[in-house]
Amino acid sequence: MCGIIGCVGRPDSTLDTLVHGLSKLEYRGYDSAGVALANGDIEVVKRAGKIEELREALEGRSVGGEVGIGHTRWSTHGPPTDENAHPHTDCTDRVAVVHNGIIENYQSLRDELAEAGHEFRSDTDTEVVPHLIEQHLSGGADPESAFRAAVERIEGSYAVAAVLAGEDRVFAAREDSPLVLGLDEEAYYLASDVPAFREFTDKVVYLEDGEFAVLDAGGWSVTDAAGSPVEKTVDTVEWDPEETGKSGYDHYMLKEIHEQPRALRQCLSGRVEELDGRVSLDVDVDPTAVQFVACGTSYHAAVYGAYLFQSIGIPAQAFLASEYTTSPPPLDDELVIGVTQSGETADTLSALREARRRGAKTLAVTNTVGSTAARECDDVLYIRAGPEIGVAATKTFSSQVVALTLLVERINDDDRETIAALRDLAGNVQQILDESTAREVAEEYYDAGAYFFVGRGPAYPVALEGALKFKEISYEHAEGFAAGELKHGPLALVTGETPVFAVVTGDDELARKTIGNVKEVEARDAPVIAVTDGRSDIERYADHVLEVPETDPETAAILANVQLQLVAYHAAALLDRPIDKPRNLAKSVTVE
Ligand code: M6R
Repeated sequence: MCGIIGCVGRPDSTLDTLVHGLSKLEYRGYDSAGVALANGDIEVVKRAGKIEELREALEGRSVGGEVGIGHTRWSTHGPPTDENAHPHTDCTDRVAVVHNGIIENYQSLRDELAEAGHEFRSDTDTEVVPHLIEQHLSGGADPESAFRAAVERIEGSYAVAAVLAGEDRVFAAREDSPLVLGLDEEAYYLASDVPAFREFTDKVVYLEDGEFAVLDAGGWSVTDAAGSPVEKTVDTVEWDPEETGKSGYDHYMLKEIHEQPRALRQCLSGRVEELDGRVSLDVDVDPTAVQFVACGTSYHAAVYGAYLFQSIGIPAQAFLASEYTTSPPPLDDELVIGVTQSGETADTLSALREARRRGAKTLAVTNTVGSTAARECDDVLYIRAGPEIGVAATKTFSSQVVALTLLVERINDDDRETIAALRDLAGNVQQILDESTAREVAEEYYDAGAYFFVGRGPAYPVALEGALKFKEISYEHAEGFAAGELKHGPLALVTGETPVFAVVTGDDELARKTIGNVKEVEARDAPVIAVTDGRSDIERYADHVLEVPETDPETAAILANVQLQLVAYHAAALLDRPIDKPRNLAKSVTVE
């Protein structure tokens, strides 16, 4: 977690560039923020709170410098205070460091440094790094060697960057945390993610674990752990900088909900033959069985994916990545699929590594080109949703499910009905966006205090996802259940004040059984909101109906999910919640 930015070569606007970059990285953490500029000395300004607090602290101050680094934090070690905000400095205030990740041996390093007379001013693990650099400098090391020597002492996961007084260079290194360089004609950047500098350049270089980078106004270099130069590929980012703005929407989340038709078209583009509807994907997999590993919303997409594989007779199971070590080992020829929007979620990366240790082939289903998951897995399937900034995942869920549907259809030799439904999907989502009455539903129930979401088959992960979306941005209690499970316990909580969202599409056995469960809550006077394509008689038992266009059962639940995204959004807006940055959360969770 946390966002890092570094910049050299924009001496007239270093500070603005850093703060702008931080505002683009704020989705990674927003407990506190800070910058350090090297202008002969080192000047650090940092504040608890969102970037706005930092902006206020900087107002009227002339903070300039040739080079600088910045950080936006999601707390791990120590509460979000000014002291714990990054950058952290050494005893002499001549070294400033920002860090993303966790330094596992920080306590022993801290004890050792304290013993040697270093004074610590924060509770963070990060603060050991500037003191280590200071120690190596005072031992006679040159700045680059001092930085390398300090990094060599730390264990754990890190993307770390440092500036030193009297130096016009930024030093950086990574291990298990993302770091990407941005190359402009006269300026160079480094960041946890491309949006931080995308406005200035589309040329990027992804650092690998164990690599070090040095940026100065004259250029950039990357070396390996042994100090040998590494030949890096310069990639070109294909999305526009405007894609990381709000484009007139009140929130990124709403914008991203509305971007779903485009995201879905992008996901399908070039992958479904015009004439015969055949699916072609650039992945080399043909599994006999599948294990999924994922977290949060991506886990719900994985549950959906497991259902899709099972429906074509391939055994499949979805595991919460953080619980994967206790799962049965993959069988021969079993594929392990990591579903992860960011490609950087520590729990998911760790489960994928465990799968590889167990001898399985791995596939990353991710949105992020060059991410750790994409690079470490044997194969990668990109979902092509475009940047998602809102902490609440929306368009990436839809695109993950569509990418998995494509994979299943390719293995299944292309089921015509599902392919046709995939082609209609973007238009159907657009119809929902144009006609949804989700706001009225939200207005009626937004302060009910507790909400249930139920569904069966592919509607089950959508019930889980509907509840997650609702709770994370509204702060109201919401739970998703397999509809059949209600009567085995949760029904005790249902009262006449508990809205129950029931996802019922089609008119098959699954729909009929869910309707049976809906009658159970209706009999307890609970308000029922049916999300339905109108093919069953669920409307008879519902107080409100959120309609979705009629389509193939495999894709209908994706449409229902869009309605639930809108309900969650409008309820959170009515409750005046900070929708894009819900408390205690961050977009990319790079700690286990
Ligand atoms: O980047 P990932 O897809 O691996 O992230 C996993 C979860 O942290 C994420 O899906 C989270 O649950 C959502 N942001 C919630 O909306």
